[in-house]
Amino acid sequence: MSASFPLLLLLLFGPIFCLGHPRLLGDPARFSQLKSSNYTWQTKFLDVPLDHFAFTTNRTFPLRYFINTDSYKAGGPILFYTGNEGSLESFAENTGFMWDLAPKLNASVVFAEHRFYGESKPFKNESYSKIEYLGYLTSEQALADFVDVIWHLKNKELQGASKSKVVAFGGSYGGMLSAWIRLKYPHIVNGAIAASAPVFWFIESKIPEDIYDKIVSRTFNTSGCNWKAVEKSWMVLDSLAKQAQGLDYLNKLFKLDSKSLLKTSEDVNFLKQYIREAMEAMAMVDYPYPTSFLSPLPAWPVRAACKFFTKVPNTDVKSAEQLYQVVNLYYNFTGDKATFCADASKCESAFAALGDPLGWPFQTCTEMVMPLCGSGSPNDFFWRDCPFTVEKYGDYCEQTFGKIGYKRSMMRPLFATQNYGANSFPTASNIVFTNGYLDPWSGGGYTEKTHGSVVTILLKRGAHHYDLRGEHPDDTEEVRRVRQREESAIRMWIA
Ligand SMILES: *[C@@H]1O[C@H](CO)[C@@H](O)[C@H](O)[C@H]1NC(C)=O
Ligand SMILES: *[C@@H]1O[C@H](CO)[C@@H](O)[C@H](O)[C@H]1NC(C)=O
Ligand SMILES: *[C@@H]1O[C@H](CO)[C@@H](O)[C@H](O)[C@H]1NC(C)=O
Ligand SMILES: *[C@@H]1O[C@H](CO)[C@@H](O)[C@H](O)[C@H]1NC(C)=O
Ligand SMILES: *[C@@H]1O[C@H](CO)[C@@H](O)[C@H](O)[C@H]1NC(C)=O
Ligand SMILES: *[C@@H]1O[C@H](CO)[C@@H](O)[C@H](O)[C@H]1NC(C)=O
Repeated sequence: MSASFPLLLLLLFGPIFCLGHPRLLGDPARFSQLKSSNYTWQTKFLDVPLDHFAFTTNRTFPLRYFINTDSYKAGGPILFYTGNEGSLESFAENTGFMWDLAPKLNASVVFAEHRFYGESKPFKNESYSKIEYLGYLTSEQALADFVDVIWHLKNKELQGASKSKVVAFGGSYGGMLSAWIRLKYPHIVNGAIAASAPVFWFIESKIPEDIYDKIVSRTFNTSGCNWKAVEKSWMVLDSLAKQAQGLDYLNKLFKLDSKSLLKTSEDVNFLKQYIREAMEAMAMVDYPYPTSFLSPLPAWPVRAACKFFTKVPNTDVKSAEQLYQVVNLYYNFTGDKATFCADASKCESAFAALGDPLGWPFQTCTEMVMPLCGSGSPNDFFWRDCPFTVEKYGDYCEQTFGKIGYKRSMMRPLFATQNYGANSFPTASNIVFTNGYLDPWSGGGYTEKTHGSVVTILLKRGAHHYDLRGEHPDDTEEVRRVRQREESAIRMWIA
């Protein structure tokens, strides 16, 4: 939930401070404009039905997938990434684990794009313009697309693959899809690696709605941040924003862009949200080596941020400065930003160019309704915007999609759990669920004890689907062991 960066969507939908905004689930790295790998692939398209479940319409559209057969030997397995809510390139670039495995297994490597994202838009540039079109943006349709691609690979495209085994991989929402495709189509997919997949983040799953920020705060606290110092800093912002002088000071301190200056005391809310997003994102991407996202980050970024937050300062100015340091670390690590644009409603978003920013929000307004909010101390060191309610969330959805015909009756908070399962998957087999203790999304992960071929692994020093990344010299011993365990599970499934 990819991407996913919570922060992105928050930035885009900033004006709604008190709602559970959609947090993007997918791999934040996809927002990087930089090519971060040397992996190569062929780009292909397969025509798939617009509607897999109605027999009376025959409309199709081209779904994009990437394929690499450098290591493939006839009959070898298909390593298949179930694409999530974004353009496919970033998943291919940031799922090094699959690329590392392919030569060991004589496997082909395939990444399939999720419909309505990237270049897989059923109605081209009009795909987001009508509610009737968006009705085809669902996880079930996406899984059925993937099944068609797999069938095509085995029966048409790949030589000697008609009996090839298929292993699904996915991280975040992509991990939910990889688990679900194994559950729904066990005759098509032989096993699945579901990394940091919040499969139980739904109302019927009854996870605490404030677990996300609880985990963010825990990750910061255990990385050296002083809890009270963080709490105090928000109060300082609130109180500074009460006077004109204080607003002036904050505008200068945070080097705010002219478009996003604080003018009223209320405006402090978007600044706080902007900082919160940075902190939430850092917990998600707290990897042991430098990585590159919206902007690049150092190794263990949370620890780096906490260097500024070791104690409660004795002046308000110092408290505000602590927050500035965190903002500067997250949004300006390379030092190339002259100003910060904190007001998401006013600023040309850095992510506009990435396309499809409304896809995941639409999914959260229909079938992927995921309760999420903060409740303040002692749960988290943010402020209270709980409870999450379907009514409040519906307001957000109407604001965002009302103009193209969205009605709140289109939100079905029970659908995902009725369709896939709320707290357990009684028929599951051959799935490895991994979660990272540092990652806020771990709060809605699959955590039943390992039983049979359904394996549950918690990475104590793991952030958002760390295990899916390629090998790195600075990897933790823990992630190396986890990847080995995943590899041996896969070897059993494909034997
Ligand atoms: C890609 O390959 C080039 C040349 O071999 C190398 O210099 C570069 O570091 C590689 N990039 C990555 C991200 O591995
Ligand atoms: C699809 O449906 C249309 C209208 O019913 C029909 O004219 C066309 O031949 C069909 N195409 C295919 C490939 O079946
Ligand atoms: C991969 O192919 C080689 C040569 O065909 C074979 O020796 C090896 O056992 C294969 N490896 C696996 C994991 O099947
Ligand atoms: C899509 O592109 C076509 C042709 O370029 C253009 O006429 C149309 O207005 C575009 N639609 C939207 C919603 O942007
Ligand atoms: C925060 O860290 C302190 C000191 O390491 C510890 O005593 C406290 O229990 C932690 N609080 C939470 C909520 O993790
Ligand atoms: C970004 O970092 C550079 C270099 O440290 C600094 O000069 C600049 O003021 C920073 N930008 C902002 C908006 O703080």
